This record gives sequence, structure tokens and C-alpha cells, in this order.
Amino acid sequence: MGKVAVGLAVIGAATVCAAAALLVRHRMRSSARWVRAMAIVADLDERCGTPLAKLRQVADAMTVEMHAGLASEGGSKLKMLISYVDNLPTGNEKGLFYALDLGGTNFRVLRVQLGGKDGGIVNQEFAEVSIPQDLMVGSSDTLFDYIAAELAKFVAQEGEDFQLPPGRQRELGFTFSFPVMQTSIDSGTLIKWTKGFNIEDVVGQDVVAELTRALERQGLDMRVSALVNDTVGTLAGGRYNNKDVVAAVILGTGTNAAYVERAHAIPKWHGLLPKSGEMVINMEWGNFRSSHLPLTEYDHSLDAESLNPGEQIFEKLISGMYLGEIVRKVLCRIAEEASLFGDTVPPKLKVPFILRTPHTSAMHHDTSPDLKVVADKLRDILEITNTSLKERKLVVQLCNIVATRGARLAAAGILGILKKLGRETLKNGEDQKTVIALDGGLYEHYTEYRKCLESTLTELIGEKVSESIVIEHSNDGSGIGAAFLAASHSQYPDVEESS
Ligand code: GLC
Repeated sequence: MGKVAVGLAVIGAATVCAAAALLVRHRMRSSARWVRAMAIVADLDERCGTPLAKLRQVADAMTVEMHAGLASEGGSKLKMLISYVDNLPTGNEKGLFYALDLGGTNFRVLRVQLGGKDGGIVNQEFAEVSIPQDLMVGSSDTLFDYIAAELAKFVAQEGEDFQLPPGRQRELGFTFSFPVMQTSIDSGTLIKWTKGFNIEDVVGQDVVAELTRALERQGLDMRVSALVNDTVGTLAGGRYNNKDVVAAVILGTGTNAAYVERAHAIPKWHGLLPKSGEMVINMEWGNFRSSHLPLTEYDHSLDAESLNPGEQIFEKLISGMYLGEIVRKVLCRIAEEASLFGDTVPPKLKVPFILRTPHTSAMHHDTSPDLKVVADKLRDILEITNTSLKERKLVVQLCNIVATRGARLAAAGILGILKKLGRETLKNGEDQKTVIALDGGLYEHYTEYRKCLESTLTELIGEKVSESIVIEHSNDGSGIGAAFLAASHSQYPDVEESS
């Protein structure tokens, strides 16, 4: 072999060795990265753990806080707001009523023609409009003028199927899904905003007066006859369909529950005892917090960066506004510390709230063998391409951990209410049904979440008792419920026929 040939052979061998060494190092590095990624996931899984014993502690804490909130104003993180709804719909309500439902990503307007005893809902129509982001943090007048204008447009389209007796004013049930300190069925002041709304000049103001002024500015002659939270509206709508409904839970952008309480068991109620002896309580359970809640560093960071730090902690663990953001935060950490998705963190992954719960839900439900939906979402939303199946599986695992924790905690919250009502066990000889009306986009569209909530509740109360507890989907019941309540609080006495 000549000198040149020997030299080339040596160089060739050296190149092969170097390449092999690089490959080994790369493999080592990538397996070390993967080990780090899996360690972060395992740690999250452990910290988000919700064994039954913990859920029982959460449920007990919920019951204790319910008592404290009923005892005195400010006695608990749970506001336990008095709704002034002491009579739920009977089915005898009659006439044309409107409802306006404000409180999430969209707002709805609807009209319903009620037929009175045995007449049911004769006719109904609705329109849904999304709320522009800038209105959620603008001024009071801009928000209320916008919704009043949409309502005016809708009223203008009223057809002949809807009949308002001559000389009567139109009446409206206003579903306003935020914490309101009510002073009567048709007045109340906003305590604080939640769910990304932040319009300072409304806090402390009477929201019915705000809306009424905006309706006047639109030249719309309409009286707000009932102001209700969405949970209270859902409870009313649910009761109309099923007399065994005693509580309602919303799982949507935010989360909350309302239930029927015995009026004499509300020490802070200083009014006359209602004839029915009952009062619907808006719990505002989104603000529940307890040392038993499995909070992680991601939750603390989400809370600190939110518009309402230190508040709505339960809501931030379980509701639709936040699940996607928690997953994004974990993914971001894995990308930073374990170079998942490459040496640099994909820029889109750093954008708060870019990953929404409908996206994580779609990824969680991906049953395709190569997790195509996950690949598509990562590409379309986060601009992350060329992901391996292993990486996509990791993403699904994260969605599962975060959704499971939320759903199981929601089930624990429901157990807390059942305990307060004394309905978590079977009483001898009683054949009692307990129906809970559930609504909200999260519950409706996130199947794994819904299944997990329902199976967890059965685990908590046992198969036997669970036969007496029914969770009923009350589809958009909050708007209809508000219309019913407008009817039962109408200024015209003949609206509610005697049964
Ligand atoms: C938030 C609001 C509450 C509402 C819930 C569901 O928690 O504070 O009033 O019922 O979201 O929409």
C-alpha cells in the first residue's frame, strides 16, 4: 500500500470512529434527556395524585366550609351567596320571556314562550355571540352597551310565534355568572370578576342597574325581573324537567355549584323565612381552597401570573379555562430541562394560554395508532414539527394527568354537597332520588373528564348509593332557567297560574 492509500485508510477509520463516538454520545445525551423528561412526568403524576382518602378529605373540607360560609358573611372562602330564589319553577309559568346569559367565552340571548300548566315550552329561539377579548377588560359601558345592542338586535327579529300581550313590557332573566351579592331577586352588586374578566368600574356596582341603563341607551323597553348565577339558572331549568334536582354544577370556562338549602339552616339569612322553607345558595365553589388540594409548582405559577392571584384556586385546578394552560406549563418545563422538541424551546410554547383545553381534550382523545391528532395540534398550535411517537405519547400522558386530577376533585366537591344535604348514604326505608344537574362546555365536550368524574363519584359513594344519585346533563339550562325565574318574578301577577 502506498503512503497516500495508508493515509486515506487511517483518516477513514478515524472518521468512522468519531462518527460512532458522536452517535453514542448523542444517544447517551438523548437517553439522558428522556430520563429527565420521564422524571418530570413521574413527579407531576405523584404530586397530582388524588387517592380516595385524599378526595374524602377534600369533600369533608368542602362540607365544613359550606357550614362556615352559611354561618356568617366572610366566614369562609366559600361565599355561599343567597340567591333570593326560594321557589323553583313549577311548570305553571306562562307567557313570553327573554334571557341573557353572560359569563363565559360566549354570551347567549334567548326568548321562550311558556305555555302554563301542562303547556310546557311552546317555543324557543336563541342566538350566541362570542365576547371580544378587549371587552372583557375594557369599561363597564362598552361591555353593557355591546350586550344590550346584541339583545336589541335579537328582539327586533321576534316573529309571530312569540306573543306578548298588548300593553305589556318585555321581561328578562339575566344570568350573570360571576359572584354577586344579591339584595333581592332583581338587584345585586358584583363582588369581583373571575375567568379573565377585569372591568374595574363594575366591581361594587349593581349589575342590574348597569344593564338597565344600557338597555335604555339602546331604546329597548325591557325590565330585568330576575338576576341569577348560571348555577342557579341551571338548577331552575333542571328542576323544571325533574323535581328531584337539588343541586347544579357548572364545569365550563369556570366552575361553580348551587344547591337547595333549608332556609332556617342559613344563620346569616336575616330576612323572613320563605313560605317554601327553602333557599337556593350559590356556593361560588371556584374559590374553595384547602391544604388537602394537590397543588404543584405549575399551579402556583399559573396562579401568580393570573389576573386574580390567590383566588379561585379550586377553579384553577379543575375548570376549562386553565387545564390547557397547566399542560403548556409542564411541557415548557420539559422542553427547557430535557430538550424535548429540540435544543431550543419552541417559541410558541412560551406563549401563555396558547394551548386551550379543547386542544388538550382533542389530544387526550386521540385513538389513532400514530397519534396523528397530537402531531397535528403540536404542529398547528405550537409550531412543533417532526415529533416522535414517544414524544406524542408523553403529551397524551400529561393531558391525562391534569384532566384526571380536575375531574376527581370535581367529584369530591359533589360529595361535599351530598354530605351537606345528608344524601351521601342511603337512609333506611327511603326510596329517595337525588338528581344533580350538570352543564358547561368542559362537562359536555371532554368525554374522558366526564367519565372520570362519574366513575370517581361512584368509587366515593359506592355502587349501592350511586344508584340513588343521578347526574343529569342540563343542556344550556341556565338561560331557560333564568327565563323561568323571570316568569315567576314577573311584574304581572297572572303569569304564574295557580296549580
Ligand atoms: C366562576 C364564577 C361563577 C360561575 C362559574 C361558572 O366561578 O365566579 O359565578 O358560576 O364561573 O360559570
